[in-house]
Amino acid sequence: MRIGVLTSGGDAPGMNAAIRAVVRSADHLGWRIYGISYGYQGLSEKAGANRLHHFEELCSDDVVLILGRGGTILKSTRYSEFEQAATLKQALANLRAFSISNLIVIGGDGSFRGAYALYDTNSEHRLIDNLRIICIPATIDNDIPFTKHSIGADTALNTVVGCIDKIRDTAFSHKRAFVIQVMGRDCDYLPRMTGISSGAHIVLGPHETANIDEIIERIEDGFRAGKEFVIVVVAEGLRRIEALSSEESVEIADDEYSRFTAAEILKEKLSSKLRQVRPVVLGHVQRGGQPSCFDRVLATRFGVAATRALDEWDEGDNQPYMLALQNKGKTDDKIVRVPLSTVLTRLERSPRRVPVKYEFLNRVVIRGFPFKQEAWPEEL
Ligand code: F6P
Repeated sequence: MRIGVLTSGGDAPGMNAAIRAVVRSADHLGWRIYGISYGYQGLSEKAGANRLHHFEELCSDDVVLILGRGGTILKSTRYSEFEQAATLKQALANLRAFSISNLIVIGGDGSFRGAYALYDTNSEHRLIDNLRIICIPATIDNDIPFTKHSIGADTALNTVVGCIDKIRDTAFSHKRAFVIQVMGRDCDYLPRMTGISSGAHIVLGPHETANIDEIIERIEDGFRAGKEFVIVVVAEGLRRIEALSSEESVEIADDEYSRFTAAEILKEKLSSKLRQVRPVVLGHVQRGGQPSCFDRVLATRFGVAATRALDEWDEGDNQPYMLALQNKGKTDDKIVRVPLSTVLTRLERSPRRVPVKYEFLNRVVIRGFPFKQEAWPEEL
């Protein structure tokens, strides 16, 4: 049996641990494993000088010392061209050239859409017999439905909180307010978990409207009440800022958002009343670094489960699956297979909210000094 493995989309700490687990468990079964570099771009590149540059056979020795390494040894790309018919057919032709009919895709929602498009194209053109695709959720955003965790989210959360712990020292020394922008696209998970675990005073989730007057009032109240610093966490996906007093309202458009971050715009608005406000955009620092132990274990479980799913695949079943970490009733967390079509349908219907098991985060609102009733949800 031959399998291909690739990483796609934004890298996430723990991807290497998943690659290692796939390679080691498949090697143990005597399978041949091909690492496909640069994600879907590498998968669909035309052969140059009679060879495909991005397919490389891997064995257990090739994945030594990568368990605790951030990033991905297979490299990754965001490759929007992949969904074009000719590109998809080329990808299938490349897999066929290597007699690979089993593919493991490690990535987030965009990567899963690509995997489904590949399956669809193959169903139409029948280029590969029994194409089997398994997707492993890996994204710091933790915005994948049906799974409690995606690889990388725990590490990113720890990185963010570690950064805020440092920022708090300087905020305290200068008696300042800091507006800290947390990456995580349009998902509430990282900003709200950050709010709880860093003790932030104000958290602005991606789907909220930031009210300038209210934030200024809270910060001033805080300093008046003797606070030595104020931490405001703002989601990078925040799009709407308004000031009720002047009826001013700012919609952060996507292009503007890439030029000025939500944190910078907020800082400008707050500075009209408050002198000591500083913005910090954490950005890609959140994606780097050694994976946490939690992510190493999760990625290893997902990697082994992917190989096992391929090994135990039912004859005649040809739909792609995503692996998910679920906890049903009182049992331990289990890794289960969810049809990829079900995952994609859910993403269409309710895009990028917190995943199952974290619904309580939608109710977490942390604002004010001291904690008000609303900041004390019973679910916590
Ligand atoms: O999906 C992971 C993520 O880091 C998001 O949190 C962020 O919005 C996006 O990727 C950034 O993408 P890029 O690295 O392509 O700029």
